Amino acid sequence: MRRTVIAGNWKMNMTPKATRAFITELAPMVAGLDKCDIVLCVPYVDIATAVEAAAGTNIHIGAENVHFEKSGAFTGEISAEMLTEIGTEYVVIGHSERRTYFGETDATVNLRTKAALAAGLKVILCLGEVKEERLSGITNEIVAMQTKLDLAGISAEELKNVIIAYEPVWAIGTGLTATPEQADETCGVIRSVIAELYGAAAAEEITIQYGGSMNDANAAELLSKPNVDGGLIGGASLKTDKFTTIVKAAN
Ligand code: 13P
Repeated sequence: MRRTVIAGNWKMNMTPKATRAFITELAPMVAGLDKCDIVLCVPYVDIATAVEAAAGTNIHIGAENVHFEKSGAFTGEISAEMLTEIGTEYVVIGHSERRTYFGETDATVNLRTKAALAAGLKVILCLGEVKEERLSGITNEIVAMQTKLDLAGISAEELKNVIIAYEPVWAIGTGLTATPEQADETCGVIRSVIAELYGAAAAEEITIQYGGSMNDANAAELLSKPNVDGGLIGGASLKTDKFTTIVKAAN
């Protein structure tokens, strides 16, 4: 059975000091809620503190991006090995904010995913359509294309360490949430593409999250859908009580 994964994506929020306080407060609130995996993806400079604060708890720590080269002249970038050495377990790749503001493409998303998997990181691979694409009725084609391009050359064995986060871009940070039916349908489309690429068993096994204004009020209904195996949560992951409510909904 596939795992439900509730992951926070802090984006550019929280200092190391705030990180320690947050995790210290959150840990007892989510202790024993083991029917889902709990992940916090945090800014690079917060990772070491987060790993230390989360030690011995059921909270796992991730980064928000990773470079695809092992080392070299890439000013400002961070390699997969740099992340694993400090205890990072997960990494978000291909977030729409990276694609929109920082020139990320399916090709670089694919390279980053390969590098992360080779280093032993678990990847939370983000994809999703923009508003015009949904309004034009081409959501299914867009997510199918992204899934195929982003996973090109990734083996079935490697896929076991990939989580897909379906994040409709129009729902991110806008307060507009996909309806549970829309989320279920599009996660289902992604799952059928995985079946096409890797077979039915792999499609059954892969965790596909929904992300985009998921919060304490709407999580239970979204998570009740058969193709929605968790959430990637932005704003609501910055508050321990809201995030805990979502973890409880998943449990
Ligand atoms: P919000 O939950 O703030 O809409 O952000 C979603 C997201 O982008 C998570 O990666």
